[in-house]
Amino acid sequence: MCYQCGSPSRRSFSRFLAAGAGLTVLAACTPEAPKAVAPSSSTASSAAPSPSAVTASAGPTPDAATVGQSPEVPSPTPSPSPSPSPSATLARQFSLDDPASPWVIVNKHRPLKPADYVPADLVRPAVAISAVGEAALLNNTTAAAAEAMFAAAARDGVAMVLASGYRSYNTQVTTYNGYVAARGQADADTASARPGHSEHQTGWAFDIGDGGGSCSFEPCFADQPAASWAKANGHRFGFVVRYPWMLHPITGYYYEPWHLRYVGVEAATDMLNRGVGTLEEYFGLEAAAGYL
Ligand code: DAL
Ligand code: ZN
Repeated sequence: MCYQCGSPSRRSFSRFLAAGAGLTVLAACTPEAPKAVAPSSSTASSAAPSPSAVTASAGPTPDAATVGQSPEVPSPTPSPSPSPSPSATLARQFSLDDPASPWVIVNKHRPLKPADYVPADLVRPAVAISAVGEAALLNNTTAAAAEAMFAAAARDGVAMVLASGYRSYNTQVTTYNGYVAARGQADADTASARPGHSEHQTGWAFDIGDGGGSCSFEPCFADQPAASWAKANGHRFGFVVRYPWMLHPITGYYYEPWHLRYVGVEAATDMLNRGVGTLEEYFGLEAAAGYL
């Protein structure tokens, strides 16, 4: 699959997004800054996951063909029906349904349950943060992994900031509605999750920036050092780029090189080694291009 930067098709796609979305992408991905600013987090550094173990299963949500209809978007190659592929040793180690599980899968077919879920262990990670309010928070496990990752990036000379973390259901309502107002629902659905369908609400995901604002929340961020570094090294700390280039027929969202999702070092490394680009494919779940 073409995840690489700089291809004509990607540049074309980038122009499309930048032209039509720039500001709204920022709006959609940079949640309003509401409520309680978090307390200072855990200490940190252990990238080792410590999620609650459970069993697994699957789950559901709405609007398909909205993704990938721009005339400038190249025809996708990925199969709309990913086949099961997690390694036997990792399969079903954690729940795919429990929002407190590091393997919870939230997409257009799988809304959060409950829809108004709030992580019980939100903390403010000890990293550079450009987000404000609740967006500066992550769940405790993700915060510790982020601290380790940001520190490693810094050691490699790469500036990385937490641009947007936790987002409550109500914040997502505001964010998504703003997106719809600016671009229309079909377009909004390619970049912003409907309330109750965002990984940001779980505390397991966050968006990064480079601290300088270069290409923040824009497709060109993929070419910035922070994004390149995260893509190449995120697995060492348990992170995957959740919405890879050209896999929107499976994930339901266009490329978001800034959006990282914690799944644990083992799973993230296994995905990389096996060349699996999406969590849907890795866990053998159906593609979720659009809402049901
Ligand atoms: N931008 C991602 C898909 C979200 O809104 O959660
Ligand atoms: Zn995000």
